[in-house]
Amino acid sequence: MITTRIKDLKNFIGQKVEIEGWVYNKRSSGKVRFLILRDGSGYLQCVGFVKDVSPEVFDLMDKVTLESSVKVEGIVREESRAIGGVELSLTNLTLYHLAEEYPISKKEHGTAFLMENRHLWLRSSRQVAILRIRSENEQSFRDYFYNNGFTLIDSPILTPAACEGTTTLFETEYFGEKAYLSQSGQLYLEPACMALGKVYCFGPTFRAEKSKTRRHLMEFWMLEPEVAFATLEDVMELAEDFLCYVVARVLDRSKEDLKRIERDTSLLEKIQKPFPRMRYSEAIEKLQKLGSDIKYGDDFGGDDETLLTQNEEKPIMVNRYPSKVKAFYMEPDPEDPELALCVDVLAPEGYGEIIGGSERISDHDLLLKRIQEHNLPVSAFQWYLDIRKYGTVKHGGFGIGLERTVAWICGLSHVRETIPYPRMLYKLYP
Ligand code: 4AD
Ligand code: MG
Repeated sequence: MITTRIKDLKNFIGQKVEIEGWVYNKRSSGKVRFLILRDGSGYLQCVGFVKDVSPEVFDLMDKVTLESSVKVEGIVREESRAIGGVELSLTNLTLYHLAEEYPISKKEHGTAFLMENRHLWLRSSRQVAILRIRSENEQSFRDYFYNNGFTLIDSPILTPAACEGTTTLFETEYFGEKAYLSQSGQLYLEPACMALGKVYCFGPTFRAEKSKTRRHLMEFWMLEPEVAFATLEDVMELAEDFLCYVVARVLDRSKEDLKRIERDTSLLEKIQKPFPRMRYSEAIEKLQKLGSDIKYGDDFGGDDETLLTQNEEKPIMVNRYPSKVKAFYMEPDPEDPELALCVDVLAPEGYGEIIGGSERISDHDLLLKRIQEHNLPVSAFQWYLDIRKYGTVKHGGFGIGLERTVAWICGLSHVRETIPYPRMLYKLYP
């Protein structure tokens, strides 16, 4: 007997196999019972004829409930009409556990109900496909940087200071001192890129964002590269090359899953270099033309990002925002010091910001001045200032949010389905 998973069954046509899984669906007609098994790798139609199985097994095929755990045994048959191209002529069925009535049925449920039952909702075919696409996405993030000579630097989660502004810090107690959950690994990557040249980190990131939008999570995963001697132009080229790799990779390896969630992949196939570059000032003009009441000097709101990108085919790279609306560490533009050498990459189809990055201030005294202007505690940043004392160089990098990227690639209307257990405003369970 061969023990296998559903995705590998095409290698065993005509052979006897056993598979463990859960009952996804069932139906019956006359002297035959159909049971759809799922095992996390795929779906399999199992056909039980009254003449081929024992009366007990035939009876069990009637009695077994949805989501019961079982083992099926049978002969693999080629069946072009079936999902996966094979079906199983059942010879035996073993019940491991008879499931209680499953709260999630094939009918429509409200989002609140599904979110409360996230631990069970994960089993539905659409969620399984999205989680697999997330996994492929995540692996492509890592592989790109691994294959391009970057060293992985795991940055700490417990930190003494803010990177992206003090208003969104989760505070905790650290042996009599205050500590905060990391908002970004960037401050730790900058020293590391002075040691290793090209580095990146990838981990959970925490922001107490009091906003309930389709783009915000309290806990999200961010990958951040940081490169010594890099200019803003280098950062933009890196972001562009990386995104093209990620999209092509997911298109190649997640075909079945993208199809299952009915993503229009022809739109993703258009994600090719070069991406349009647009200055902040041009973006403001464009937004005003499109009817937004945004003024020069304002940061973009979610609606502005939607407006700016909803008719775009490629990500747009908006650069040189006013320093006032950006983080303290960004290098000023020598041509206009009111502007920061920064870039936000906005995903098309209305998705908006998925990447934020910049060149970093390399001069010690200017950085110190900015820390003071932002009312940040200089003592907590002493080590970070130090980097500018010993062979300081131009450097830069960016951060990409995994969940926003997955939402775009999957074509989802909200980030909550892109992460197994979303942490959202006032939502900590399950
Ligand atoms: O633009 P952000 O705040 O940039 C930084 O944190 C820099 N320190 C990164 C760097 O240069 N090393 O965040 C980067 C990205 C955003 O573009 C977005 O994709 C994601 O992180 N992000 C969020 N994703 C989900 N929920 C939130 N609350 C997010 N906040 C940021
Ligand atoms: Mg940003």
